[in-house]
Amino acid sequence: MTELVVRTGTGDDRDVIVRTLADSWGGTIVVAHGRAYDAAELPALLALRDDRLVGLLTYEVTDDGLEVVTIDATRPRAGVGTALLAAAAELARASGVTRLWLVTTNDNLNALRFYQRRGLRIVGVTPGGVDTARRLKPSIPRIGEYGIPLRDELTLELRL
Ligand SMILES: CC(C)(COP(=O)(O)OP(=O)(O)OC[C@H]1O[C@@H](n2cnc3c(N)ncnc32)[C@H](O)[C@@H]1OP(=O)(O)O)[C@@H](O)C(=O)NCCC(=O)NCCS
Repeated sequence: MTELVVRTGTGDDRDVIVRTLADSWGGTIVVAHGRAYDAAELPALLALRDDRLVGLLTYEVTDDGLEVVTIDATRPRAGVGTALLAAAAELARASGVTRLWLVTTNDNLNALRFYQRRGLRIVGVTPGGVDTARRLKPSIPRIGEYGIPLRDELTLELRL
């Protein structure tokens, strides 16, 4: 397999970022912990193989740490998510913050497994968090992965 490259996004990447977010999240607006983000406006890390996008991570850095707002691998189980998460942690350290954090949902068992195997801890559970998010983004489905009712949010963090 050819080398996986992770780099920061630029203005030239906007179209591919918008397409990737639309494929994964039905648009560029994502909602977590009661806040709507336009992920296309956030800084991004792109994973590329042979100059083709195979993964995307968008994030925001505040005093509270680096929040991973979206992370997607277009071809799962090929090391893309791991490379993106490692690059985000590196960025967070370089920014001087002491944690990387994110919110996922109760149905996303693949992501929960993925994050915990990479050192993230569950630090918060918000029952009904997705029901709140659905008020801001009604297109969020009621049934998620594995046929699980999609209702709750979980916050995970990696201490740096
Ligand atoms: C969660 C997600 C980002 C993980 O990305 P990924 O690229 O599949 O992650 P990786 O390939 O790095 O790791 C996944 C597994 O594949 C394994 N893997 C990596 N390369 C592999 C290879 N060449 N052959 C076989 N397995 C491989 C990894 O070891 C890992 O298994 P482990 O957890 O037992 O160690 C991805 O599943 C995804 O895009 N999900 C949909 C969007 C989503 O839900 N995002 C999270 C929202 S909070």
